[in-house]
Amino acid sequence: MEIKKIAVIGAGIMGNGIAQVCAQAGYEVSVRDINQAFLDKGIKNIEKNLSKLVAKEKMTQDQMNAVMGKLKPTLELKDAVEGAQLVIEAATENIDIKKSIFKEIDGYCPPETVFASNTTAKSIAEMGAVTKRPDKFIGMHFFNPPPLMKLVEVIRSLATSDETCKIITDTCAKLGKKAVVIKEAPGFIVTRIFAVLINEAFFTLMEGVASPEEIDEAMQLGVNLPAGPLRTADFMGIDLVLATMNTLYEEFGDPKYRPCPLVRNYVRAGWLGVKTGRGVYDYRK
Ligand SMILES: NC(=O)c1ccc[n+]([C@@H]2O[C@H](COP(=O)([O-])OP(=O)(O)OC[C@H]3O[C@@H](n4cnc5c(N)ncnc54)[C@H](O)[C@@H]3O)[C@@H](O)[C@H]2O)c1
Repeated sequence: MEIKKIAVIGAGIMGNGIAQVCAQAGYEVSVRDINQAFLDKGIKNIEKNLSKLVAKEKMTQDQMNAVMGKLKPTLELKDAVEGAQLVIEAATENIDIKKSIFKEIDGYCPPETVFASNTTAKSIAEMGAVTKRPDKFIGMHFFNPPPLMKLVEVIRSLATSDETCKIITDTCAKLGKKAVVIKEAPGFIVTRIFAVLINEAFFTLMEGVASPEEIDEAMQLGVNLPAGPLRTADFMGIDLVLATMNTLYEEFGDPKYRPCPLVRNYVRAGWLGVKTGRGVYDYRK
C-alpha cells in the first residue's frame, strides 16, 4: 500500500512536529485538534520552525510555501482521517482519550488504513483491541522535537502484523528517521530508562541536594547529556513525566518507578514546563 496522506491527531508539542516532518517528506498531512487555539498554535510553530530554516538558507521560501501547502488543519476528526492511509495519534497521554479516538476513526477509515500511536508509555495492544484492525495497529514513538530527533521506536503488539511493521519502517525511512523495532513492553526502551533518570533528578532537587541549574549542569558536563534532565522535563511537559511514571509504576509494581512527590506538586500547581510558561524554570520573561 502506498501512503500518500497521513492524518496527525493532536497539534501539541509532538503532533505539530510530526506533521512538519511528514509534510517535509512530501506527504499530504491533515492535523486535528479539539479547539482552534491549539490548532493555530501548532501550525504557527511549524511556520516558525520552517522560517528559521529559510533564514539559515537551508530551505527556500518556495519550498517552505510548498510544505505549508501540504498541511490541512481541521477540528473534524472525520475530515482529518478521510483518504488517509496512515493515522498517527499524538493526543494527550491518557489511555481513555486515545481509545476513544481510535474507536471513532475505526468507523471512518477503510480496513487497510494503518493506525499508529505516538504514546510514551501506554499499551499498544490495549489501544489496538478497541479497533477491528489490531493487526494494523502499531506504536510509532517519535522524540522531542520530532524535526530534529532521528529515532522512531516502532512498537509491535502481540497482534501487529509483519506487513504493518514493514509499512511503518518504510515510512520512517522516507521521513528520514531511524526505526528501532521492539516488542511491546512498558515504557518501550527510551521512556523506561530516561523517565527514571528524570524522576531521580526531581528527587535530588526535592531533597535540596543542589539547585536546578547545578543538577542540570552536572548531568550535562558529567554525563554529556545535551540538556539537563530538569530542563528536558520542562520541554517534555511535567504532566507527561507524571503520567509516564504512573504508568511504569502501575505496570511493573516496583517502587523504583514511584513518581517523585515534587513532580506531583508541579503538576498540581499547573507548572507543566515550557508549554505553560513555568516549570522547573521560568519561561515567562
Ligand atoms: N512531549 C514529549 O516530549 C513527548 C515525546 C514523545 C511522545 N510523546 C507523546 O505524544 C503524545 C502527545 O504529547 P504532547 O507532549 O504533544 O502533548 P501536548 O499536551 O503538547 O498536546 C496534546 C494535544 O492533544 C490534543 N488532544 C486532546 N484530545 C484530543 C482529541 N480527541 N483529538 C485531537 N487532539 C486532542 C490536546 O488538545 C493537545 O493540543 C502523548 O501521547 C505523549 O506521551 C510526548
